[in-house]
Amino acid sequence: MDFRHAPVMPEEALQFLAPRSGGVYVDGTLGGGGHSRLILEASAPDGVLYAFDRDRAALAAARERLAGFGDRFRPIHGNFADMAGLLGARGLTGIDGFLLDLGVSSHQLDTADRGFSFQSDAPLDMRMDNGAGLTAADLVNSLPEGELTRILREYGEERWAQRIARFIVRARTETPVTTTLRLVDLVKGAIPRGAWEERLHPATRTFQALRIAVNDELGSLDRGLAAGIRLLKPGGRGVVISFHSLEDRIVKQCFRDRARGCICPKELPLCACGHLPEVSILTTRPVRPEETETAENPRARSARLRAVEKR
Ligand SMILES: C[S@@+](CC[C@H](N)C(=O)[O-])C[C@H]1O[C@@H](n2cnc3c(N)ncnc32)[C@H](O)[C@@H]1O
Repeated sequence: MDFRHAPVMPEEALQFLAPRSGGVYVDGTLGGGGHSRLILEASAPDGVLYAFDRDRAALAAARERLAGFGDRFRPIHGNFADMAGLLGARGLTGIDGFLLDLGVSSHQLDTADRGFSFQSDAPLDMRMDNGAGLTAADLVNSLPEGELTRILREYGEERWAQRIARFIVRARTETPVTTTLRLVDLVKGAIPRGAWEERLHPATRTFQALRIAVNDELGSLDRGLAAGIRLLKPGGRGVVISFHSLEDRIVKQCFRDRARGCICPKELPLCACGHLPEVSILTTRPVRPEETETAENPRARSARLRAVEKR
């Protein structure tokens, strides 16, 4: 099975992470191991990389592909949101940098039976860690209509959320919705033909929304950023590549909050809080990929990179 995944914005990620020999790094999203390989190469001969993935299949493949780095490469099965505990259990309390390259990998999208894709028929699963938690089918067959609507609207920014939820709820009273293509048909039926977007499959937003909900992607991002920043040693760097506005908003807000000094109410003439900024923002605007990259790798098109340095 081919787990290759062209790393997005490889040069920019390395430039901001600035790995060096002797450093200890975290790749929160190992996936195909593309970024991990670059970090290990750049931190030779003795940098160490702890790499997380919720997906056991991705970990197993990366373990083989990066075996040449020996003990410098340390894969861990788990959510990057739990990195503080998982690293603490290994005696590690400080790191020199972390990278999060969010979302699903090309391999996960291309493996039909994982249920991430609306292009082929498969069980409606969508779990990154397919050994744990509720599937997309569990959600669509059990959530109240209002909650389904909220998920589609908030996580998919889907304007037809309410109609899609209504169609799903009506359909599931006859037979549970258990496959990707049945869901695609329901979504297509719910969105009036004239409202289909020219360059976007009608089920794109619904699939994105369910995937985010199934994997608690935004909650994980919140917790992962907090943990990563807390673990950084002074001068250590945090780099995040996000792929849609919901993720990017969380990253931007978190970095801004952490870069703030005084947090006193505006009315106070003098600072009484003594609060100090934790990080400096290295990217005033999100960094976007070069056109040459987006021409070769369509996945890179929506990528935005932001970085901070611990003070
Ligand atoms: C976009 S891919 C990463 C690709 C990787 N940077 C590369 O160059 O090959 C994202 C990977 O991170 C994993 N992932 C996403 N969110 C995660 C989380 N909260 N904790 C751990 N792994 C996560 C997914 O399972 C997927 O394998």
